[in-house]
Amino acid sequence: MGALDGKVAVITGATSGIGARTAEVFVAEGASVVLGGRRTGPGEELAAALGPRARFARADVRVEADIEALTAVAVDAFGGLDVLVNNAGQGVEAPRPLPEADLAAFLDTLAVHAGGMFLGIKHAARIMIPRGWGSIINMSSIGAHRAGWSDISYSTAKAGVLQLTRSAAVELGPHGIRVNSVSPGPIPTGIFAKNAGVDAERADRTAGLLEPLFAEAMAAHQSIPRAGRADDVAAAALWLATDASSFVTGQDLGVDGGISAGRPVAVAVEERRLLAKAFAALPS
Ligand SMILES: NC(=O)c1ccc[n+]([C@@H]2O[C@H](COP(=O)([O-])OP(=O)(O)OC[C@H]3O[C@@H](n4cnc5c(N)ncnc54)[C@H](OP(=O)(O)O)[C@@H]3O)[C@@H](O)[C@H]2O)c1
Repeated sequence: MGALDGKVAVITGATSGIGARTAEVFVAEGASVVLGGRRTGPGEELAAALGPRARFARADVRVEADIEALTAVAVDAFGGLDVLVNNAGQGVEAPRPLPEADLAAFLDTLAVHAGGMFLGIKHAARIMIPRGWGSIINMSSIGAHRAGWSDISYSTAKAGVLQLTRSAAVELGPHGIRVNSVSPGPIPTGIFAKNAGVDAERADRTAGLLEPLFAEAMAAHQSIPRAGRADDVAAAALWLATDASSFVTGQDLGVDGGISAGRPVAVAVEERRLLAKAFAALPS
């Protein structure tokens, strides 16, 4: 028996990375899943590989008609909508220092992350309210909690996602709909290479090769000494999607190897050692 037997989910941005892995996990747990995204090739390919309980529908989350149509596919193909994973997102290509920053780029980032998730919640709520049950999961980021991990527009948008989550949770709770968010730390998906201008399919295909690099780079920040994986985030989304979390709403679940908890102890110990050495060298 799967944890999502008989449930219907829509996952935005499911053509690669965290969204694609979440789609695989949800189908394996018994759900029927509608995969969204703008790239038809990878979307159709993944849906075909997942079998008859998966469909791909092209949807740009900045376009309300696309989101409305995406949620309608869930109803038409599978008879309803129980779970929405508002996952679609993009990094920022060549971020500029503030004095040269571009308003249009800033607003586009808000449109994808905050706007797209707002639209997803709106159209999911229209279907979920009459059914009296639903779970909505919004993909935020460590960038929502800590400055310096991402571009200013991305951090601002992801912080907005946290308050969007809480606001929707208090409005939709009486209708039996829970709304939560997940905040991953750095996960080696194609998002980083895409930001650097690498072709999207190549970026997705080669992302896993970056795991050792991520593990090394994160050693000074994460107390769990390994790279995060799309699997880690999909598992958190799965828990939030099911009744295992039935009394949890309006919350954000960090999946960041301990970054938001604080510095690894070894970093502080080394800092204290250097300070002690510097004190010892001071003139008496
Ligand atoms: N990887 C990390 O370190 C990390 C950390 C924290 C949070 N996140 C968040 O996790 C989510 C998934 O990212 P990922 O790491 O899995 O990257 P990814 O592999 O690049 O996936 C991003 C997904 O979003 C879709 N997308 C982007 N813009 C879209 C738009 N305007 N409309 C519809 N779909 C759009 C992409 O599909 P198409 O290209 O087909 O449109 C793709 O499926 C994002 O919200 C990201 O901000 C990632």
